Amino acid sequence: MYRIFILFCVSFCFLSCVNSNPSNVHDEIDKSAIIDSAMVVSAHPLASEIGKSILKKGGNAIDAAIAVQFALAVVHPSAGNIGGGGFMVIRLNKGDCYTLDFREKAPSTAHRDMYLNDDGTIVKRLSLDGSLAVGVPGTVDGMCKAHQKFGSLSWGELIQPSIELAQNGFPLTQLEADGLNYFVNSKLKFNSIEPSFIVKDNWLKGDSIYLHDLANTLYLIKAKRRAGFYEGEIALKITQEMERSSGVITSEDLQNYESIWREPLIGYYKNYKIISMGPPSSGGACLLQMLKMLEPFDLNQMGLHSYKSIHCIAEAEKRAFADRSKYMGDPDFIDVPLTQLLDSMYLKHRMSNYSSIMATLSDSIFPGNFNFKESDQTTHYSIVDTYGNAVSVTTTLNSSYGSGVVVGSAGFLLNNEMDDFSSKPGQPNLYGLIGGEANSIQPNKRMLSSMTPTILEKNGQLFMVVGTPGGSTIITGVLQTILNVIEYDLSIQDAVSIGRFHHQWRPDEIKIESNKFDSLVIQQLKQMGHSFKSVNSMNRVDAIVISEGLLEGGADPRGDDSCSGF
Ligand code: GLY
Repeated sequence: MYRIFILFCVSFCFLSCVNSNPSNVHDEIDKSAIIDSAMVVSAHPLASEIGKSILKKGGNAIDAAIAVQFALAVVHPSAGNIGGGGFMVIRLNKGDCYTLDFREKAPSTAHRDMYLNDDGTIVKRLSLDGSLAVGVPGTVDGMCKAHQKFGSLSWGELIQPSIELAQNGFPLTQLEADGLNYFVNSKLKFNSIEPSFIVKDNWLKGDSIYLHDLANTLYLIKAKRRAGFYEGEIALKITQEMERSSGVITSEDLQNYESIWREPLIGYYKNYKIISMGPPSSGGACLLQMLKMLEPFDLNQMGLHSYKSIHCIAEAEKRAFADRSKYMGDPDFIDVPLTQLLDSMYLKHRMSNYSSIMATLSDSIFPGNFNFKESDQTTHYSIVDTYGNAVSVTTTLNSSYGSGVVVGSAGFLLNNEMDDFSSKPGQPNLYGLIGGEANSIQPNKRMLSSMTPTILEKNGQLFMVVGTPGGSTIITGVLQTILNVIEYDLSIQDAVSIGRFHHQWRPDEIKIESNKFDSLVIQQLKQMGHSFKSVNSMNRVDAIVISEGLLEGGADPRGDDSCSGF
């Protein structure tokens, strides 16, 4: 039986009564859907709806992904972007796979010690706040490359809905209103020219926001494609912004930016094929390592969220993150030993000091250092079209609202992705984490990522499209969502909604969502030697499972995430 959940009626209602500050904007967002043709799951109902409209017109999943990417830049400015970067994983209906790297790059004048004082100490927040934190954006080039290779609708058709949204305004959800208030209080000070969309200092749910500068920027991208961003008016506005606010991105950096089609990273877990993103993301490699380390264990028999399964998964997570710290970085600059890291004998050996009754101290897992501080504002969308093509995209500005810099009179935020490099290899960063040489800063190098857009096949058929924001917790969030479905037979909505935990080797603690786990289980894990840090929420997973000809969407209840399909 087909169950169809109708979404967005509330959103549409309030699109027609802007400025009215209604109390129930998007309250009725339905998180799950089971349909039989095509689906988009993204971080915002308006973006999901635009993606669906593209699919309904006969567009394919790549067309819809491009439209959703531009829509998120409008309606979800904390992470959706044209001033950032990301990764796209594609599986066409015949099974061919492609991965696109549109990750940001270090500017050509960037150098290893650019965030250090004369005495060699790290300048607090220099890699996070303001123009010096910005990597050369990759999103627009990435969308152009994806469209060139796979687009079926016209480029203009994919951007036009976002131009209209930015121009005509749209009502804010509670989360977006809170986010913008955070932006004004914490990030506005990094701007050399106050963005024109700042009309008041306290947005409320239901207020409308108008992004005229951004609409103009999107119009230029629509008219001139790549050149509308990396050359001409917008490129000039970016370099002028850099000059005003001590950034170092030049017009040559912009002109020279290229996204790259890379070999998909492929691995196996039981009878599932995992297609994910390779370096410069660590996400796919760590995910495959964790799954292979876990394969010999009977997680199902241990039980969902039991102390035995949490312990076992956390131990595999620690070991993968330890490897990440030493071996992973931009493959155009360093040799990432992927063959060895993914070798099944090697991964079996990695678990040879695993104890089922005691936590292995992180110190005794690897004598190296942990090397990445990452924040958790990124966004993910999963799409399946009517033809059976699937796309999984994770994209980011790095932390919430990125560097905080809105390009003067161009209306879009710039990333602070430079902080994903190791500012000082071998030394603890602001958060007590230690950086690795493989991820040190070099001109034009891509900073290591944890983004893990992933597609699964079961018995040769498309089975799951999955991904999430969440910095380093991205990898473990994707891992647990996959295991929740494969090992514990949860529906995709339950798999997405249920509590998550995360171990990243350093610090030696399990990050856990508060009030989502049995206190007795936590007690047992503490007795085994695990330490805990509670957080309010982790990740916003957006996923689709394909089973018996139906598409089942799971949108994370932790955000405004929504499913839309037909
Ligand atoms: N900025 C988060 C990541 O790329 O992992």
